[in-house]
Amino acid sequence: MKAVVIRTFGDPDGMEVVDVPVPVPAPGQVGIATEAIGVGGVDAVIRRGTLAAHGFRTGHLLGSEVAGRVAAVGEDVDPSWIGRRVWAFTGLSGGYAEQAVAAVEDVIALPDDLTGAAAVTLGGSGVVAHFALERARLTPGETVLVRGAAGSIGITAVQLAAGRGASAVAVTTSSVERGARLRDLGATHVLDRTGEGGPDAPAGFDVVIDVVAGPQLPLLLDRMNPNGRFVAVGVVGGQPPADFGMRLMDAFRKSLSFTTFSSDTVPAPDRQAVRSSQFAAAARGDLRTVVHEVLPLDQAALAHRRMDAGEVFGRIVLTP
Ligand SMILES: NC(=O)c1ccc[n+]([C@@H]2O[C@H](COP(=O)([O-])OP(=O)(O)OC[C@H]3O[C@@H](n4cnc5c(N)ncnc54)[C@H](OP(=O)(O)O)[C@@H]3O)[C@@H](O)[C@H]2O)c1
Repeated sequence: MKAVVIRTFGDPDGMEVVDVPVPVPAPGQVGIATEAIGVGGVDAVIRRGTLAAHGFRTGHLLGSEVAGRVAAVGEDVDPSWIGRRVWAFTGLSGGYAEQAVAAVEDVIALPDDLTGAAAVTLGGSGVVAHFALERARLTPGETVLVRGAAGSIGITAVQLAAGRGASAVAVTTSSVERGARLRDLGATHVLDRTGEGGPDAPAGFDVVIDVVAGPQLPLLLDRMNPNGRFVAVGVVGGQPPADFGMRLMDAFRKSLSFTTFSSDTVPAPDRQAVRSSQFAAAARGDLRTVVHEVLPLDQAALAHRRMDAGEVFGRIVLTP
């Protein structure tokens, strides 16, 4: 089968389309003939080689999120899975391929009327947005800022925050055009990447869902209301400055809460229950997914170039 591996870490040109044997599902796994493959930020981080210390080696087959039809099952797996259309988390490898394997507890049946592209846009990121807002204990009438809203986590967070009755859903983004698209998804105020702009934006936020982190993170503390809750879910802008902890303590009298959140810490059955209800909502049209572009699998390097250039609004999807 065709797959995309990393020959050289760094630039997208180091990715290569190769022929490899079809993976055989181990006990507890299913094999999936892919119809859609999500291209996520973590794939780019692995490709750049910044995670070499975590054991990623040359020849690594990228990709963690696929949709497709179950073609085979491993020992101990109910054979009735065969033929079903599913979404699956494949771990941190194995997705950029015509066939992938996944543990059966990371596989979920798809509604007939949800496209594979929509599923791989929502499957991984939707649960992050959902549980981040749970962590933030958002209640109706509160003000929310989604920082880095133009990615698939932010796009879902904006919709969910609006749906939960936030009185304002502000976003940061880098262009007027993206701001307009985010307004269409439920944002009420559009700020630039520094958090400025939007003259009528709320003076303070009760909740911040932050995909960015980076050097400007401490500035956000000044924009939070007393008892505000800040949930950091990503680091697309890099790590915060070393004195971030001191800046948080300087805001002591506001009783702020700062937490990191990873969906890895949510029990798998809880993740699957939310995913299932989000897939159903997307199939009904109640939750929107944004597919930036669909490209053939052998153009995975182009997809990564687009990500590196910051061109992607939503998510790029590969098809085998
Ligand atoms: N917490 C979890 O469980 C979990 C799970 C999966 C992934 N993640 C993390 O989530 C992140 C990816 O999320 P995503 O796919 O939604 O995001 P993304 O698409 O990679 O980025 C979201 C937006 O952030 C803005 N941005 C990019 N670089 C920036 C910078 N240097 N400064 C300010 N804004 C910047 C861009 O929008 P504009 O150009 O419009 O500003 C971009 O579209 C990664 O850090 C990944 O590790 C977390």
